[in-house]
Amino acid sequence: MAALFSPLTIGDLKLANRIVMAPMTRHRALHGKIPGSLNALYYTQRAGAGLIITESTEIDPYGAIEVPTRPGLFNDEQEAGWRLVTDAVHAAGGKIFVQLSHMGRTALPSQLRDGRWPVGPSALAAAGKIYTANRAEPYVEPQALSVDGITTIIAGFADAAARAKRARFDGIEIHGANGYLVDQFLRDGSNIRTDNYGGSVGNRTRFLLEIIEAAKEYWPTDRIAVRLSPTNPFQGMSDSDPVANFAGIAALLAPFGLAYLHIVTPVVVPEGQADVAPAIRATFHGPLIVAGGYKRDHAEDALTSGKADLVAFGEAFIANPDLPQRWRINAPLNAADKGTFYTTDAKGYTDYPSLELVED
Ligand SMILES: Cc1cc2nc3c(=O)[nH]c(=O)nc-3n(C[C@H](O)[C@H](O)[C@H](O)COP(=O)(O)O)c2cc1C
Repeated sequence: MAALFSPLTIGDLKLANRIVMAPMTRHRALHGKIPGSLNALYYTQRAGAGLIITESTEIDPYGAIEVPTRPGLFNDEQEAGWRLVTDAVHAAGGKIFVQLSHMGRTALPSQLRDGRWPVGPSALAAAGKIYTANRAEPYVEPQALSVDGITTIIAGFADAAARAKRARFDGIEIHGANGYLVDQFLRDGSNIRTDNYGGSVGNRTRFLLEIIEAAKEYWPTDRIAVRLSPTNPFQGMSDSDPVANFAGIAALLAPFGLAYLHIVTPVVVPEGQADVAPAIRATFHGPLIVAGGYKRDHAEDALTSGKADLVAFGEAFIANPDLPQRWRINAPLNAADKGTFYTTDAKGYTDYPSLELVED
């Protein structure tokens, strides 16, 4: 049997295979950032994954952009909407974690409620522009968070964690990747604080560790996970020494006994770029997921060589609701239509054919 199809047990959570659906924003929630039956159908179609990780889900209305169809988990309607999704996925035999996120400095003032301004660890704007539906706007210089502001956001993560429990998720993944707020704290290109939340690796990781501590009130640590993207430059991110930084972060996460650590890391590391994955593997001893451009063969290699315990797939899962089944029988894959990644209806979302339809 291919390594991709061997089951894995994390604590008391039994995953049927090592094939993970990567978190992917799709802009198909109902207005009010409320998941609905279309989202339930989309995720249920993909329940053959060993684990589904939901799209980035906002922990409060101020760490968000006002795209009404990006889901949240900060009010009762959203919690009830997610419960529709989790119940449907569980009924189909799947397992599902919610990815909890705060945009930090990458939010746009024009889209924040109540005249609020984007926040970050330091008053450093991300390089470049954010592309919204109708226009591109430069990122703004965020307001550097006060310690009170940090405490409020940690409480927001805790509240979302509590709601995730009530919405019957199997666990939570803290979004520490891709240039959002947690990542902004972790990397020294965006965090130049001189207090307890900046400077040393330990200080830059403090925000993340305090979120985990707060979530522990509602979840055992083997149902709490973290996603990191050590070398992803997306949204103007950088770090002066990614290997030392992320090996240090992994070492700080190791004692918690997390469900898993999920890293976005290139399959083939570009020349001149540091390969952080082995350093993380050496310091973090729990289950490790890798993601970022993996094809089936790469994934099999990553598992058999011991590089990782699970592999997450993004675009392949958008286009192939039955991806594990296709691989099991060596069936061809559908191609993903990038033009419908962020549109707002069923087209390009729930209408990719599964094998039954292909064979009919
Ligand atoms: C449409 C789309 C939306 C994405 N949204 C998220 C997200 O919400 N959170 C996240 O951590 N990564 C997000 N990603 C990144 C994916 O999780 C994944 O790391 C990336 O697509 C690389 O994997 P792949 O080559 O298998 O697609 C997104 C990717 C795509 C294509």
